[in-house]
Amino acid sequence: MTAAPLQDTRYRLSEAQALELAETYGTPLYVVDEAHFRQRIQTYYQGFRAVCPSGELSFATKANSTAALIKIAYSEGCSIDVASEGEFRVALMAGVPASACHLHGNNKQLSELTFAISEGIGTIVLDNFEEIEAVAKLLKGPTSGIQHSAPSLVIRLAPGVDPVTHAKISTGQADTKFGFNIVDGAAEKATQRCLALGLPLIGYHCHVGSQLLDPEAQISGGELIAKFAADMKARHGFETTYLNVGGGLGVRYTEKDIPMSHAEYCSEIVAAVNRALEGTGLNPKLGQEPGRSLIAESGVTLYRVGSVKTVPAKEIGTRTYVAVDGGLSDNPRPALYGSKYTVERVAANSEQATTNTPYTISGKHCETDKLFEDVSLPSDLAAGDLLQVLCTGAYNSSMASNYNRYPRPATALIRPDGSHCLIQRRDSWEEMLAREILPEGLG
Ligand SMILES: Cc1ncc(COP(=O)(O)O)c(C=O)c1O
Repeated sequence: MTAAPLQDTRYRLSEAQALELAETYGTPLYVVDEAHFRQRIQTYYQGFRAVCPSGELSFATKANSTAALIKIAYSEGCSIDVASEGEFRVALMAGVPASACHLHGNNKQLSELTFAISEGIGTIVLDNFEEIEAVAKLLKGPTSGIQHSAPSLVIRLAPGVDPVTHAKISTGQADTKFGFNIVDGAAEKATQRCLALGLPLIGYHCHVGSQLLDPEAQISGGELIAKFAADMKARHGFETTYLNVGGGLGVRYTEKDIPMSHAEYCSEIVAAVNRALEGTGLNPKLGQEPGRSLIAESGVTLYRVGSVKTVPAKEIGTRTYVAVDGGLSDNPRPALYGSKYTVERVAANSEQATTNTPYTISGKHCETDKLFEDVSLPSDLAAGDLLQVLCTGAYNSSMASNYNRYPRPATALIRPDGSHCLIQRRDSWEEMLAREILPEGLG
């Protein structure tokens, strides 16, 4: 299936904004535009509800777990998907009721489950048999101390979508650590076990992969879990009232990535699920759990160029490295996945050149010579210039580390009135050293 081309919807800073933000907060700096993020959620919801009026979006906070952004997503009507106790705690801190949170995770610790249930988490997505038993004990045990209504339970399915077709980004295939396989009978056994234990099971979940630029994988995932729900009704009398087809819609990292519109994507997926449910008497509430497609395009990263260096290079003659003041620790995706990005010069010290030259952008870290390869930028690029990397709202700040002991960058939010503020400050040297312990007798 070919995707219908979509216009470039990525947020960009103007030169004046970039200069002011860099001056106020320093670089490297993550920047998110609030109005853009709200618009992305609204557009997704419009597309979803046009074909499924009761459709629910959960914001996958793994994409960006900054508290203010979680608060914005919740205020736009999203429930909140958390994949760890840490993400759950941030959601609570952001003022999201526990009942609006879904807890994921392929190896939830007893302490995580206990905390989630005691706080009144809305939904737990079950991932393995040990977890079913643990949750049953926590919900039924006389000493559970639960003060809230029990969470709804959803079984995560591995629908067996072909990992070869959807290499790297697939998590819904049979050979996966996530969820219960449909093909080997594990998913049916999990259903039977939940029913036997009298647990508050409401339905099924799948997530087949990420950065999907066509909906084929998601369509088969949706169809397979809907068919499975129908089978469970026929064989065990279980009435599914909730189906969640996960996240995954892709975004425009470079001009080569041509994502579908939210509306087209939703219409394909809802149609596939509805086809599979036809005649079954099931009418479950449908959920989706996007992360990247809601927040990625609303964010940019601002770097300052520190040096420009031309060196001899095999086959190409010379290579010009542009060293920026961040890299692997604020954006590990190029190193992890070979991800490509769009890099633009947003402010220059010199007169602007009219011709472009290919550059290799390098970070400050030991491993990565090449942060962004083959980037076409003005030929007079020089130390002090500001670069913006587009589409970094997802899986950048949430995947940042202190590698090489660099402080993680701050995140600035551009408010709808054009003003700006910090929503996450840069790591301080004090907190970087705070975890260190020097026992006696080391010398
Ligand atoms: C279970 C689950 N839900 C939702 C998502 C969000 O995916 P995306 O950011 O691609 O929309 C992921 C991503 O890995 C996931 O594993």
